Amino acid sequence: MSVFVDLDVSADELRQTLYDGNLVILTRLTAVSEFVDYTRNQLAELFKPHDPEHAHEHFEPAEMAKMLGSWKPRFIHAERSKRLVCNIITEAGLPAEQTHFDVPKPRTSFPTGHLTTGVAFAFPWHRDVWYSAPAQQINWWLPIFAARADNSMSFDLPCFNQAVPNSSDAFDYYRNNAQRLTTATQITKEQQARPGAIDHKPVDEQVVLPAPGAVLLFSGAQLHTSIPNTSGRARYSVDFRTVDASDLMAGRGAPLVDAYCTGTAIRDFHNIADGSGFDEETITRLFGAPPPDAMLVFSATEAERSAKAI
Ligand SMILES: [Fe+2]
Repeated sequence: MSVFVDLDVSADELRQTLYDGNLVILTRLTAVSEFVDYTRNQLAELFKPHDPEHAHEHFEPAEMAKMLGSWKPRFIHAERSKRLVCNIITEAGLPAEQTHFDVPKPRTSFPTGHLTTGVAFAFPWHRDVWYSAPAQQINWWLPIFAARADNSMSFDLPCFNQAVPNSSDAFDYYRNNAQRLTTATQITKEQQARPGAIDHKPVDEQVVLPAPGAVLLFSGAQLHTSIPNTSGRARYSVDFRTVDASDLMAGRGAPLVDAYCTGTAIRDFHNIADGSGFDEETITRLFGAPPPDAMLVFSATEAERSAKAI
């Protein structure tokens, strides 16, 4: 498995390269730089007059959790955020009519000893497919400020297609949505299920650091983890995901060697060209029928409704 930089291939080949377990970094997309500027401005505004990378020196963990808990949903659902994400995907060469995307998620990692739960949760070794992501999911990860080896994430590439013991059998996507709803206003507590590898000893810890303005693409089946932040600086990154409709229909995707979760996150994805989701008949055919009372998606509307009810 390799790390390719600015791979010059067709969209179909690009996706297959990722499904095969390789990593791809794209450094020449103007839309990524635009997205970085936009996010930096938002963070500068949120923490002013302080430098966002040193914000943790000025705000207590509880206050930080409150600030981020209010900013993150606004950023995630802003029309401008979504438009910029779509620009990145199409500039990378993926066809709008065929590509579905999920909203961008800002991630924050503060130095050890500061806020490390809830909105700044550090993920253990995991694959996104243990969280009910489809085999076609491609993750797009981009740093907002320079990422460092002591505050970002690492991959265990040799384990891409090797089963590892994990707790994904306890994860159900719909149940997790319902649990998120009841805890939507508890910004300092994290009560969601978090499947992870059990006693994982990485075969190889690969740290890949794209510069701000570049984006790292990897399959949702990659085994990866957050690196505890000992850099003294806060790390800000944004990630989002895509799924290709023709690959989904044809069953082309990454190997699922050890995903035991139930439910599917496929309803979170919407088509870039017309905003449509996958139709329910197709979803049921590919992933099975959900239980009658299942909470199929966790949306901003549901979170707001929950906040008002409490
Ligand atoms: Fe992940």
